[in-house]
This record gives sequence, structure tokens and C-alpha cells, in this order.
Amino acid sequence: MNQYPKKVKTNLEYLRKLFIMPDSPDKFIDFGHDLLEMLHDFFQEKGGIHSAITLPALSEIFNQTAVPDSPKLIKDVLGEIKDKIVKHSVKVGNPYYIGHMTSAIPYFMILLEMIIAALNQNQVKIETAKASSFVERELVSWLHRLIFIKANKYYQKNVQNHRVALGNITSDGTLANLTAMFVAREKAFPPDGDFPGLRMSGVEKAMRYYGYSKGVFLVSKRGHYSIVKSANVLGIGEENVISIPVDRNNRMDIKKLRRKVNALHSESKKEGRTKIIAIIGIAGTTETGSVDNLQEMEAVARETGAHFHVDACWGGSAMLVDDYRPLFSGIEKADSVTIDAHKLLYCPMTMGIVLFRNEKDVHFIRHSSQYVIRRNSVDTGRFTIEGSRPFACLKPWAALKIIGKEGYGLLFKQAQKSTSNLKKILDNCGNFETLNNPQLFILIYRFIPAIAKGQLIEWKNSKPSLRAKDKIKSIEQKIRKVNNLINGLNIKLHKALRRDDTSFVSRTTVESTTYRPQNIVVLRAVLINPLTNGQILNEIVATQNRIGMGVWREFEPVFERLRKDGGK
Ligand SMILES: Cc1ncc(COP(=O)(O)O)c(C=O)c1O
Repeated sequence: MNQYPKKVKTNLEYLRKLFIMPDSPDKFIDFGHDLLEMLHDFFQEKGGIHSAITLPALSEIFNQTAVPDSPKLIKDVLGEIKDKIVKHSVKVGNPYYIGHMTSAIPYFMILLEMIIAALNQNQVKIETAKASSFVERELVSWLHRLIFIKANKYYQKNVQNHRVALGNITSDGTLANLTAMFVAREKAFPPDGDFPGLRMSGVEKAMRYYGYSKGVFLVSKRGHYSIVKSANVLGIGEENVISIPVDRNNRMDIKKLRRKVNALHSESKKEGRTKIIAIIGIAGTTETGSVDNLQEMEAVARETGAHFHVDACWGGSAMLVDDYRPLFSGIEKADSVTIDAHKLLYCPMTMGIVLFRNEKDVHFIRHSSQYVIRRNSVDTGRFTIEGSRPFACLKPWAALKIIGKEGYGLLFKQAQKSTSNLKKILDNCGNFETLNNPQLFILIYRFIPAIAKGQLIEWKNSKPSLRAKDKIKSIEQKIRKVNNLINGLNIKLHKALRRDDTSFVSRTTVESTTYRPQNIVVLRAVLINPLTNGQILNEIVATQNRIGMGVWREFEPVFERLRKDGGK
């Protein structure tokens, strides 16, 4: 029998009560209480991070193929949400969950989400978002000032100047990057005389008009895939996103950037010219949390006439703290910068922001329509790619008041401490190899038993003394084979850790800067949950080591063979 059987007789009176006012105000508050208690229980629950249910079992639960016919009672549906959804949600706020950028949030965020839903403002236009439009502009100004540090007078003039926009609030970082790339594209092929600009004419005509055969974006190998998506959506073409290799610290290799720029210019003469539309720096790479050398990249962008964008979706908020400011040196000269509030501002999903150094750049996006966002209106929606938007900016706006720069400073200090703590614990254990020097709270490493680690070091150290090319080649081959084996070991370990489910780190594959050009499977820890402490990190590493040594038994015989005869 259905566990949630009670059907409600469909009548307009009942439905009206859902809208205008709940049955009685008490009921609304009662439901609110029940809901908060349910969430509180979820936070307090001990045990696994992911719930033991299998994916096929979940698809059995959610296998209804048609829209429900008759209404059900709110309390029954809330019960269903509790049993079917909350129970099987990932506990991303658990202090043992250190695998992704999605992490713990302060509890007041849940209350702010309630306000957002209750007010139901639509930021697209002033008629549906009065005070909230002003909040949005104020928040944009705060972050603009943090990055571009213009004069006080500039902000006083523009904070609420509806003729311009210092930036846009977007759904997420992907949309924020897309918006920046949209502006970059328009600036590369602007209106000129009778030519109406790329937006009107389309890519093909614009290229022909300006005498180019293609346009490209340049970003490091660590670039987020939203840049590739933007190239796709904007008609630039995914293959025209050119990846520049990184240096040993996972930052764009500037020499290689310059070399590429020169090559594109000389290649242009033969095959038609190439327009470098944008050079994109990253302030906090997704995989390693590294910050590019923005100062030097900006210089290259200026020399080539490209738009200089900085994807600071992950790291940008660290600029709230003076200690981190030098890491971002050069960002103040960027043309555009993107930041995600649902990352280092500890806001719940989701809100991105794109900021433009020149407040008039958003005019490249400007749209109008007769029923909303009329040409001379004050509507924020005139400048956004998105249409209807929620009042999401309330979350970072309130959080920046409640936590303040000082509070964020303490949170980042704690994140930094956790990151170096984990690195130390892993390095001391002997069976792990850490693979980056974290700048912004992301550590990549792999499980590699001491015997294999020692062997790799020995082989690597022996290389310089070898003269014969074939000997060097043979050593390199052995290193590659052992790395392949360790890749397999880490994939298996990661799966075993998922089954154990007492903690969580993520897994990715990166072209390692230590074993270049080989791809290395790594475990990735993102250490921003302030509830994660030293003892928890020790426990996590102990679990990984214990389970890892168990999995190693299966791999050890192959390793021994590789060691002796190179696996022939
Ligand atoms: C560097 C960077 N840029 C952009 C994004 C895209 O952000 P979102 O997932 O909010 O679209 C991410 C997401 O992880 C990121 O790490």
C-alpha cells in the first residue's frame, strides 16, 4: 500500500488557502517548525555520508512516469520528502566530507533562503524587485571595489546609477564566465560604420568584415570547462579554446603563452588572420586552487589587444583578506572578473557574479523589450543574459554583514590551517605523495606505498647519471608503467573509500607537473569546512592508509615484476 495515501479533494477553496494564507497562520508556523526539525535531524545524523542506497534502488523510488493527478496534503508530501529525499541526500556539510567545493554553510543561510522564497522578487525589473534591485547594485559595488579599487567618488557616482552596471549577478559561475566572454566577443568585433557589430551580423559576417578567419580564447590547461562551453554557445567553436601548458605550480606558463601568441600571429599571415578575443587568467583553479600570474598575463593581453578576463569563481573571495591580496596582483587591471558566492563566501547553491572594470562594458549585452526592461527603464534585466532571476544576492549581502571581512579572514585562516595540516599528515605517513603546493585550500595527492614511492625516486634520481639514451628510455618506461599501476590503485582505493563512506575526497586525473606528460590519478581534498579539525584529518588519512594497504595487496605482485624486469 502507498505510504502516502491521503488524497485531498480538489477544490478551489483548498487551493486558495495554499496561496493567500495557510489554513491558519499557526499551520504555516507549525509546518515551518516541523521542517526545521527535520533539517536539524539531518544535520545531526551520524553514519555514512552518502546513505547506503544504491543508484538502481533510487531509480525504483523515483519511477513514476506521469504527473500526479490529485493533490496531496502538505504534511504527507513533506513526509515523502523526508523519507525519499532528505534521507538519501549527500551530507556535504559533514566535516569528514572534504572532497568538493560544495561544503558546509552557516545555518542563517537557510533562513535567508526562506526570505528569498517568501518575497519572491524577480530581479529582472524594478516592478517586481524594488528594494532588492538596490541591494543587488550595492553588493556588486562592494565586490567591484574589492577587485578594481577605484576611487571612492567613482563608486558613489555609480553604485545606484541605473545607466550603467558595474557587473551582473548570475545563476552561477558558468553563466558569469559566459557573460564575460559575450562582452569580450562583442568588443573584438564591434559596430563600425555600416557594420552593426557581431551581435547583429553573426560570427561569419563579423570575421569577414574584420578580415579574420577565426577567433580564439587562450586559457591554461587548468581552465574550467565553462570556458569551452562559452566558446560553443558564442559560436567561437570549442576547438578555438587554446590550452596553454602550466608551470610546476599549475600556473599558466607565461613563456608558452607568449610563444603561442607569436605563433598565432605568424600563422595568421598564411592561413588567414586569427583574432585573440580573450586571454583568461584563473584565480583558483578547479583542480589545484592555483592562481595564475595575472600581472604578466595582463601585459600580454594588452600587447595583443585581447580582453583580459580573470576566472576567480573559486578564489576571488579570498581578496576580502589583505593577506591574500598579493596572490591576486594584477587582477585590478582585468577587464572582467567572475566570482561564485556558493564557493568561498559559504552561500548555498547558487549565485555567480561578473564584474567589469569599465562600467559601460555591459552595454554590449544591452537588450530591451516593450513589456519589461524598456529602453529607458531602470531595470537590471536590460544588462543580463538571463531573464527572470531570484533575489539570490541577499545571501552574500547578508553574509558579508554577519560574518564581515574579519570573519571571512578567520574562516580562510582555518581553511589554510586544515590544508597545510593535511599535507603534513600525508607527508609524514610515508604512503602518500602530495602533488601540489596549495595556494587556496585545494590539495591533490595520491596513495603510493613507501616501497613504490622510494623506487620511483630512485629511478628518477638515476636518470641524470645515465649517458645511454636507451637506458634513459628504459627508466622512463619503468616510471610510466609504475605510475599506470598506481593510477589503477588510486581508482580502486577511491571506490573502496566510497563504499566505506565514513569520509569523502574527490578523484580527478591531471597531467602531473611532476611526471609530465603522464596523466596521474589523484585524490583531491577541498578544505574549507571550518568544522574539519586536525583529529578528523588524522582519522581520514588513517582510513585511507588502512584501506589503501588492503587494496595494494592486489597490486604488489605486478609492482614487484615491474621492479625486477620492467614488466617484460
Ligand atoms: C575556476 C572555476 N570557474 C568556473 C566554475 C563554474 O562554476 P559553476 O559551477 O558555479 O557554474 C568553477 C566551478 O567549479 C570553477 O572552479
